[in-house]
Amino acid sequence: MKCKKCGKKAVANLRAYRISLCADCYVEFYKRLVERSIKKYKILSKEEQILLAVSGGKDSSAMASVLKEIGFEFEMLYIDLGIGDYSRDSKQKVEELSDLLKVRLNIVELKDYGFTIPQARGRVCSVCGTAKRYIMNRFARENGFDVVATGHTAEDIASFYLKNIAGNQQAFAEKLLPRIEPFDAKVVARARPLFEISEKENMLYAILKKLPFKSGECLYAPKPDWKEIVYDIELKKPGFVKNFVRGLTVEVKKPSETRYCSICGEIASGDICSFCKIRSKFSKSF
Ligand code: AMP
Ligand code: FES
Ligand code: ZN
Repeated sequence: MKCKKCGKKAVANLRAYRISLCADCYVEFYKRLVERSIKKYKILSKEEQILLAVSGGKDSSAMASVLKEIGFEFEMLYIDLGIGDYSRDSKQKVEELSDLLKVRLNIVELKDYGFTIPQARGRVCSVCGTAKRYIMNRFARENGFDVVATGHTAEDIASFYLKNIAGNQQAFAEKLLPRIEPFDAKVVARARPLFEISEKENMLYAILKKLPFKSGECLYAPKPDWKEIVYDIELKKPGFVKNFVRGLTVEVKKPSETRYCSICGEIASGDICSFCKIRSKFSKSF
């Protein structure tokens, strides 16, 4: 198999684009892909203060490296959820990434809020999602950032959409957009620079660039049923995932009234925000 661009030995066969590329041409191809997508959806601008949420996984490591390559300036944030070896190894990877890219890394520990993920009971993953969203938004606002970027991929978006449609849930639109503008001064904009990019593309870039990243799922992650369905469709219909996310037309409705948590002052849907509800359940210091 030869590279379609330069004729050297190909390392990647991109079925969605029907091309094979060598290592160097692939890295260039990936950079252009992300750059084009950011421009097309106006996901990020070089004038704003950007905070990148990095987990130590391949997607957010690839996002940090490629954004640096295409000339964005940013800081990174890692949230230590206190999940034993998993959190320790992930933290080590983001520290290596920070050294490699020469980008400042901020670390917030969930235990400073009085609990860790293994101490949470019930739907642990939803507790974890709430905690991460809360900390990302609060840290970004308190430290003067305009936008938080996460490494959500096209597969994340497509599987989330299918799962919600199947569960007959409608209130999910904002999770499906490449960028969400704030509806209140306490909320920071959210961006997904890899909205249109697939996990395989991120993985290949991360490997070819020798980026530090951790493989393996968190102990508490739910079964990836919907992700597997998305992978299966992509296998049978190459290009499905990209076409799917490009075809999404969702509208975000602003909440009819903005409320603030009576405990911490952050945005809330009732009297107390979901993070403080969780803290009141699990934190000894609350
Ligand atoms: P996940 O929710 O694990 O699928 O991760 C989606 C995105 O959220 C990642 O690509 C990161 O940008 C961000 N993220 C996940 N876990 C963390 C973490 N512990 N610290 C900071 N950002 C994270
Ligand atoms: Fe959140 Fe595993 S990383 S529950
Ligand atoms: Zn609160």
